[in-house]
Amino acid sequence: MSVYQATASAPVNIACIKYWGKRDTKLILPTNSSLSVTLDQDHLRSTTTSRADPSFKTDRLWLNGKEEEIKDVGRLSTCIKEMKRLRREVEDKNPNEPKLSTYGVHIASKNNFPTAAGLASSASGFAALVSSLAALYKLPATPSELSLISRQGSGSACRSLFGGYVAWEMGSASDGSDSLAIEVAPQSHWPDIHALICVVSDDKKGTSSTSGMQRTVETSPLLQHRIKHVVPERMEAIKKAILARDFDSFARITMQDSNQFHAVCLDTDPPIFYMNDVSRTIIAIITEYNRVSVENGGKLKAAYTYDAGPNAVIYAPKENLKEIISLIIKYFPQADAFKDPFNLFGAQGVGSG
Ligand code: PMV
Repeated sequence: MSVYQATASAPVNIACIKYWGKRDTKLILPTNSSLSVTLDQDHLRSTTTSRADPSFKTDRLWLNGKEEEIKDVGRLSTCIKEMKRLRREVEDKNPNEPKLSTYGVHIASKNNFPTAAGLASSASGFAALVSSLAALYKLPATPSELSLISRQGSGSACRSLFGGYVAWEMGSASDGSDSLAIEVAPQSHWPDIHALICVVSDDKKGTSSTSGMQRTVETSPLLQHRIKHVVPERMEAIKKAILARDFDSFARITMQDSNQFHAVCLDTDPPIFYMNDVSRTIIAIITEYNRVSVENGGKLKAAYTYDAGPNAVIYAPKENLKEIISLIIKYFPQADAFKDPFNLFGAQGVGSG
């Protein structure tokens, strides 16, 4: 008897231009385009195995060994249904193909890092889920096509289908058919950029991105300014910086956008706070580090960015990493660098998925 099973893994991505706000909550269509870098290290990945079998009566999913409910109208079920629909197209074209779309599917997914700690676990999770189903169902789909489906699991997941430097173009179609991820440049174009992840806390975050975004869209006037007058130009400028390997511009835009994202959270009613005192101290350290460099006629040497949590991601050219780590350890001597990537500060390469 044949076994129909496939495994795929996907890495985390960290946005430089943040996605925050949905114009369609069901299809997960964003209020602005975004851009991220996909991390390429074994430390921050989701790995997912999917198996289809005629004896499986229902679809089931286990996350880190614990079964999760697949709600009828939920995001998991949307992604699985969409993948089965694409499988049906394959079966209709090739009548000899087994009818996997009619079988139940069992899915087991594992993150090798804390789930929902502001480390983009939903991004790698849904990207790995969609990739493993695409492999199981032998779909002839490109990463951009698959991104249309992983987007409906978690918006930022569409960007984890590519390695390197990735844009999520917001699109304008009401059915979401043009709201997809595209590669801006592969990791090999600019391999020198590394991401240093400072895990300030691995607790589950207080306000989920879904409810936070909804509140921001409903209440923040600053968000309206951001999506109309700030992000479109920033997207073009950062793409240009990446293509030109211009770290100074890349860093400036990344920090400005992180700051504005957290300003928008503060502008939400009631306000949302994702950063804490340690996060803000790391901002001060990087700001001072860059100030000294610029005052001595140099350029920016590092860029911080924060998602929906207190953990810092610091992007920097490889040559500056040692200096940055010693600076951070000077201020946080208890940080136990490079032993355990989740109680401490660990260097992550940036790269292809
Ligand atoms: O995809 P979600 O719903 O987890 O939202 C992610 C939002 C941010 O991480 C804060 C920004 C981004 O673009 O990744």
